[in-house]
Amino acid sequence: MSDHLDKTRNDRRDFEKGKLEEIREKDPMKLFHSFYQDAHENSCADPHAMVLSTVSADGQPSARVVYMRELLEEGFIFYTNYLSKKGSHIEGNKKVSSLFYWDCIERQVRVEGTVEKVDDQISEDYFASRPRISQIGAWASEQSSEIDSRASLEERVAFFEEKYPDVVPRPPHWGGYLIVPHYFEFWQGRLGRLHDRICFQKEGDDWKIFRISP
Ligand SMILES: Cc1cc2nc3c(=O)[nH]c(=O)nc-3n(C[C@H](O)[C@H](O)[C@H](O)COP(=O)(O)O)c2cc1C
Repeated sequence: MSDHLDKTRNDRRDFEKGKLEEIREKDPMKLFHSFYQDAHENSCADPHAMVLSTVSADGQPSARVVYMRELLEEGFIFYTNYLSKKGSHIEGNKKVSSLFYWDCIERQVRVEGTVEKVDDQISEDYFASRPRISQIGAWASEQSSEIDSRASLEERVAFFEEKYPDVVPRPPHWGGYLIVPHYFEFWQGRLGRLHDRICFQKEGDDWKIFRISP
């Protein structure tokens, strides 16, 4: 076996900031909302950042961070380039997983669901609210495709800066996806690795709620 590159692997950490014992909430989106508010109130860094996992046509999972931008009763909206790697995965497989981890409150929420493009108007409104530099970036970046150099990206930025001196229209390949969840797991770290894990599984119009072993 080769040498370990990192000697911090044996660092121990205890989780002791909370518990999930009695769950009265029957709607997982409402429970998610209260977790999310706790993350805000406790000043967690980037509480709306989530790891989004997609799966390629040949079954290869791939994960990356995106921002959850809107929290609706039916799910979570994020915005991206529809022609990116994640976009092409979603084109072939609508099943995704997303994961929120809020270290400051020792909680994670795992979400599994299917994804759909949001109405163009929703994407239009959100795009219009973005800073100009991000709007230009959405045109300049052919997200996930190979490029020659940083300079060629910056040339494209300059090109679109000149092309759109005033209002920047939304690129047709840029917009939102709505994740519609059918499974949630709410996780609270506990002492001795005896964590709380409460799951919600969609069954018809209802949610089956159960606890699983840490
Ligand atoms: C904190 C953070 C937030 C991000 N938010 C987004 C986002 O909202 N949308 C997006 O397309 N990429 C976002 N990214 C970049 C993605 O992680 C990723 O690099 C990009 O979407 C390309 O992914 P893909 O090649 O798998 O499609 C974010 C990255 C970080 C670290």
